[in-house]
Amino acid sequence: MQDWRDFIHEVVIPEHRLQERIAELGKEISQDYADKEILIICILRGGVMFMSDLLKHITCPVNVEFMAVSSYGVGARESTGNVRITLDLNTNIKDRHVLIVEDIIDSGYTLASVVELLETRDPASLYICTLLDKFERREIDVPIRYVGFPIENQYVFGYGLDIDEYYRNLPFIGAADLSKYAPKH
Ligand code: IMP
Ligand code: MG
Repeated sequence: MQDWRDFIHEVVIPEHRLQERIAELGKEISQDYADKEILIICILRGGVMFMSDLLKHITCPVNVEFMAVSSYGVGARESTGNVRITLDLNTNIKDRHVLIVEDIIDSGYTLASVVELLETRDPASLYICTLLDKFERREIDVPIRYVGFPIENQYVFGYGLDIDEYYRNLPFIGAADLSKYAPKH
């Protein structure tokens, strides 16, 4: 595995800014759902780090579930629009207040199909919270209620986001200079 220092273009969001903003989001969500119970659906795997930090700032009763979705072809860095649910929920969401927690929304295809599927199961409400929003890249409209940071169109990694499944463990978000990135095969 290549050292991230060899291909990082810049640190886009340092750890302290992430933590500050996530605390704000948690507070806002706790106020909005003050008299309700939340069912968080974390989208694996990128949303895991964000969800676990966000959870610490939520003060209302909350349950956590996971879904996994795959939309990229093997080794590709662009959404194909061909979305597959690879891990579905184990729980009934009917009449529950569902909040989808995702790392990043790019073209929008992934979440658009997750929303479409979950709507058929009759939740009481269904909203999206994404850490990052690459808004310039949107190809299909997805209603996002909570956004951590709008970001420019660049490939980012760290804090849950991967390049070829690596670098999710970094506590900050960096932008990659992909011309300097050398995947080993
Ligand atoms: P979309 O379907 O194009 O909106 O893609 C969303 C998914 O693509 C996210 O859940 C991420 O897993 C992945 N993704 C999109 N952009 C990036 C990026 O810059 N770095 C890492 N993963 C990304
Ligand atoms: Mg993802």
